Parts: sequence; C-alpha cells; structure tokens
Amino acid sequence: MRVLVNNEIVHREDVRIDFEDRGYQFGDGIYEVVRVYEGEAYELNEHIHRFYRSAKEIGITPPQSKNEMKSNIEDVITENKLLEGGIYFQMTRGVAPRKHQYEKEIEPKLIAYPLYFTRPEKQQNEGVSVLTADDLRWHRCDIKSLNLLYNIMMKQKAHDSGSFETIFIRDELVTEGTSTNVFMIKDNVISTHPADNNILNGITRMKVLHLLNEEHIPYEEKSFTKQELLDADEVFITSTTSEVMPVLKVDEQVIGNGLPGILTKRLHSLFLHDIK
Ligand code: PDD
Repeated sequence: MRVLVNNEIVHREDVRIDFEDRGYQFGDGIYEVVRVYEGEAYELNEHIHRFYRSAKEIGITPPQSKNEMKSNIEDVITENKLLEGGIYFQMTRGVAPRKHQYEKEIEPKLIAYPLYFTRPEKQQNEGVSVLTADDLRWHRCDIKSLNLLYNIMMKQKAHDSGSFETIFIRDELVTEGTSTNVFMIKDNVISTHPADNNILNGITRMKVLHLLNEEHIPYEEKSFTKQELLDADEVFITSTTSEVMPVLKVDEQVIGNGLPGILTKRLHSLFLHDIK
C-alpha cells in the first residue's frame, strides 16, 4: 500500500508515526472519508472543503493548499490502482512533548491511504435495524474530529445486538447516527436535523438535499423527536459508505410497513445516477 505522508507518497512500511504525535495521545486532529467509484473520488472538493473547515475550527493549518491536497489524494488513488473503496485522510497537530496546551509552530502530520470496501448492497436492498441512545457527545459535532470514543462505543453496541447503527437523541430530539445522518419521511415531507453544531453536515446529506431540490420533493431541515421517528412512514440514514440506507426498525419497533420505503428507494437511485 502507498500512503501520503504530508507531501510525499511512500510505502506503508516506511511510514513513521511518533508516539508523541498529539493525534495518538489526545486525538488532537481531524479526518475525512471520501468514496472512490471507478477510480474517481466522489465529491472530493466538498470533503476537502469540510476538512479545511474542521482544521480551522481547531486551529491547525494544513501543510498544503486545497489544490495540492486534491492532486495528492488523486495520486494516492492512482498509485494504489484503487477502483472501488475510499480514501481515509487525517491530519494531526503533530509531535510535541506531552502537555495539553500546544505551541503554534508544531508541524502538522497529514496522511492519506486507501480503504478497500464495496457498496453494502444487501443492507441497502433489505434495509437495516438501528438502536437509539442518549447523545452524550460534546457540542461540536460539526467538527470531524478524531475523537470518536462515544461514537465507537455506541456503534459497537449496535453491532453486538445485530443492528447496523445507533441513532443519537439529544434533549428529546434525534441528532444523527454514530457515523451517519438521519432522515425521516412523514406524509411525503422529508425531515432531517439542521446543520448546526450538534451534527456533522454530511456530504451525502448535502447531496440528498440537493437532489430533493432538483426533484422538487418537499423537505425541511428541522429536528424531530424519537416518537416522530417511530411514527414515520419511512426512515433512512446517509453516509459516504452507506449512501442512502433504508431503516426498517428502530429499537425493535417496525417503521411504516416494514419494507424499504418507496421515496427512500427513489432517492437512492437518484444518488446512484449522480455518481455516474
Ligand atoms: N462518517 N455523522 C457522523 C458523526 C459521521 O461520522 C459521518 C461520516 C456522517 C456522514 O457524513 P458523510 O455523508 O460526509 O460521510 C454523519 C464517516 C463515513 C466515517 O467516520 O467513517
């Protein structure tokens, strides 16, 4: 495997990560997962834009321009001959003696490498079940931070119970999943949590809203309660890896008629059309 380390692409064996890297010690860094379809990074500009935004919010200056990062990531795809999967990229604040506060001069560490996976077609066709849990995360979920401890705890809980995802509830309202955004449909109106500090504004979420606009399908960026979610006609979740995924059960309760919804399926096919 070939890995981008700052401005250089090297063999995996030659990547050196220091144990005093603040990403390793504090989770002091940010990341992105971008989808690769047929050798092309999907919505790469949008991912890089979000990456730079996250970096700015935590005060890290990326070691290269957006255009340089774009061409470096494209080189990682080419050098690894990646056709289907994704690119993971992350940037940490860099290496320094361990203390919470940091000097501004530390050199950030950027890495990017391929992830090998395919579309989860079975789950997309058949739908999935999800759990719910209190959203005990911090209030800056808009930053794509490396700190994913609560997200992984709750994803693991879902996984252990045979569910696909855990959906978070904060102050009675549905925010998002551990690694997905949540949509519900009631009487043909689609709702999803507004893009504020309590969710990550998903690239897939934004694409779905764009498709809804284009198709003149009514939607609102308005939060809803767990009860409204349970009473929905259709529920689906979105992410780079899941695309548009129908949810058939929430906490063992069946949603709608218990089958992947018609509008959900239509949105997924519009999405698949868009990636072509
Ligand atoms: N997760 N919300 C959270 C908390 C996420 O971590 C993600 C993405 C999303 C969906 O965003 P997008 O549509 O841009 O993928 C929403 C990635 C895929 C991950 O951590 O693997």
